[in-house]
Amino acid sequence: MKFPRSFLWGVSTSAYQIEGGITNDWSQWETSYKRVKELKDKGLDYRDFICDKACDSYDLYKEDIDLVKKLGCNTYRFGVEWARLEPIEGEFNEKEFDHYKEVLAYAKSKGLKVILTIWHWTNPLWLTVEGGWANKKVVRYFDRFTKKVVEELGSDVDYWCVINEPLIHVGNGYLKAKFPPSKKNPWQAYKTLNNLIHAYKRAYRTIHRKYSNAKVGFSKVATYFEPARKWCPTELLLSWLAHHFYNLFFLEKVEKEVDYIGVDYYFHNRVVWHPPFVKNKNKKTNDMGWEIYPEGIYKVVKKLAIFNKPIIIIENGLADADDSRRPDFIKDHVYYLHKALSEGVPVAGYCHWSLLDNFEWADGWGPKFGLFEVDRETFARKPRPSANIYTKICKNNELEIDP
Ligand code: BGC
Repeated sequence: MKFPRSFLWGVSTSAYQIEGGITNDWSQWETSYKRVKELKDKGLDYRDFICDKACDSYDLYKEDIDLVKKLGCNTYRFGVEWARLEPIEGEFNEKEFDHYKEVLAYAKSKGLKVILTIWHWTNPLWLTVEGGWANKKVVRYFDRFTKKVVEELGSDVDYWCVINEPLIHVGNGYLKAKFPPSKKNPWQAYKTLNNLIHAYKRAYRTIHRKYSNAKVGFSKVATYFEPARKWCPTELLLSWLAHHFYNLFFLEKVEKEVDYIGVDYYFHNRVVWHPPFVKNKNKKTNDMGWEIYPEGIYKVVKKLAIFNKPIIIIENGLADADDSRRPDFIKDHVYYLHKALSEGVPVAGYCHWSLLDNFEWADGWGPKFGLFEVDRETFARKPRPSANIYTKICKNNELEIDP
């Protein structure tokens, strides 16, 4: 199964999850009394849930970029860390900008296309003190930060991923209390969502003012919702509503301001009429219990084709420590993407999540998402067998399937 010559094959990471040595709202939350107690009460060791040095990619970025190249990828999606670059409100850290300039220059010197994420859920502490994304001042703050990022780093960026999965920040941060600021406050959730929409639109215009041909978007976590019983009106309606709110709402709000659609696809949801409203068959799952459902990537991109914009899978991957499911996972998802492509869906790229075993947010260091294992003591990277499978696909720009 051949892919177009211009197809982007990449891997994805995020700043906080791999860099290490960052002080921000997450690092503060990880050691807060409430969080440590909550983990202790569950019989867990809070040290397994602290990001700390992460994968030390701040220092080892050259090694990481070499690994991306070795995989045969032509694209690397990574992020910058707001708290590093603007540790004090309105005061930028020029040395840290220089650091990212070096990272970008190194990626470009290796011939990689760069998808740069500006905001992947983490905030500088001064913003937290001011109420985080629930405070409408964030729209102005984020625009000022974006302007500076564009000014300093823009010339080496091929695709902008302005924000990562806004709905997850709203849901986990303000409704489920799973992520900082760890609240259950629908009013603040609503304000946060609104601010994310406005901040995104402003950033889009800011980037385009400097680079009129820039390709700007965000990453949209997209899930395939299907009614458990096709004939059940309630389940049909619930699936329809879930699809419209979860997959389409944000996109529709910013439709004029997206040059490509960034999709993060992980699993699907089989919708039932009674709580908890989702009942998957779970024939195959990953280490976190998430159902493996490759066909869903096809269904999702088919549905997003209505926007008539190039679609890039910015994230797709699984936690699989022994790498027993990753090889098929990659091949099956790529197979279904090709199917969508062959039916005319403008799929322009695929980035696997993730290059490395990294800090999996509230789940800490347990889940292993990497094509490369990372030794927690020495930070040595070691390829999993699936890295070879992905390399073959990327290098040949095709998926070989058994006849
Ligand atoms: C996020 C990543 C995360 C991955 C796996 C995505 O939603 O953008 O940061 O590690 O899912 O949970």
